[in-house]
Amino acid sequence: MHEGAILIFDSGVGGLSVVGEIRACLGDAALVYVCDNAALPYGTKPDEWLIERIVAVCCCAVERSRASVLVVACNTASTLALEALRSRLTIPVVGTVPAIKPAAQMSASKVIGLLATSATVRRPYTDRLIEEYASECRVIRVAADGLVAEAERYLAGRTLSTDKLRHAVQPLFDIEALDTVVLGCTHFPLLREPLAALAPRELVWIDSGAAIARRVASVISCPAKTRGVGMSMATAPGQDGLAHALAHFGFAAPEPLMLEDLSVMPESLH
Ligand code: DGL
Repeated sequence: MHEGAILIFDSGVGGLSVVGEIRACLGDAALVYVCDNAALPYGTKPDEWLIERIVAVCCCAVERSRASVLVVACNTASTLALEALRSRLTIPVVGTVPAIKPAAQMSASKVIGLLATSATVRRPYTDRLIEEYASECRVIRVAADGLVAEAERYLAGRTLSTDKLRHAVQPLFDIEALDTVVLGCTHFPLLREPLAALAPRELVWIDSGAAIARRVASVISCPAKTRGVGMSMATAPGQDGLAHALAHFGFAAPEPLMLEDLSVMPESLH
């Protein structure tokens, strides 16, 4: 039924920031959304466990949706598991990595901030991106796992905590020469306006959404067209806030993605 659709995957609602960009680029393409909210947040979990989990959830969701392309709309997953996913799936896999390259090109001061999960800021993948594209820049990496929960709350229709937002970005605001911030977690563009409103001066906030949408358009020649509300799936489907967020982006309430075949999450990771 959803054959030929674009499947968008994230740990939670972060991938919805990419949905808007894909719709802006591909109009009425059929989209399916899947989130592994039973394991949210990914950014604080061990790499080995995450690779297995991400591959299991994505393979299961691709099979169920019969999608023709998988968009890993999660920096934490992409900087770790793209290779594993590509070796297991036969459809194209489009990843999301921090927009270091455009940020380095756009920054006048050559002092840029990377706001991401604690996993993404320390990954070798991120080291390589910085070495390759921003060697002439000073890059300040700030782990902001707390913003993931804030974005989840915000999309669920709850009030944001200005204190939590400020606490997360203050280390970047404190560096006077810094002029550009890379939003290196797909949850963070959902908070762009409230974050920018707290900034003591004008900053450029960059994410990867539009580049991912262009990449998706280049790998699928003829995407299936949407037939109304998109299907969604979740590993913990019964959360009101999630259904609210998905409805706002044109998706039906999430169907359960069965966990039987997925690796069991150790208690300590809950
Ligand atoms: N949205 C995910 C990302 O882009 C991370 C959120 C999480 O920690 O689960 O990195």
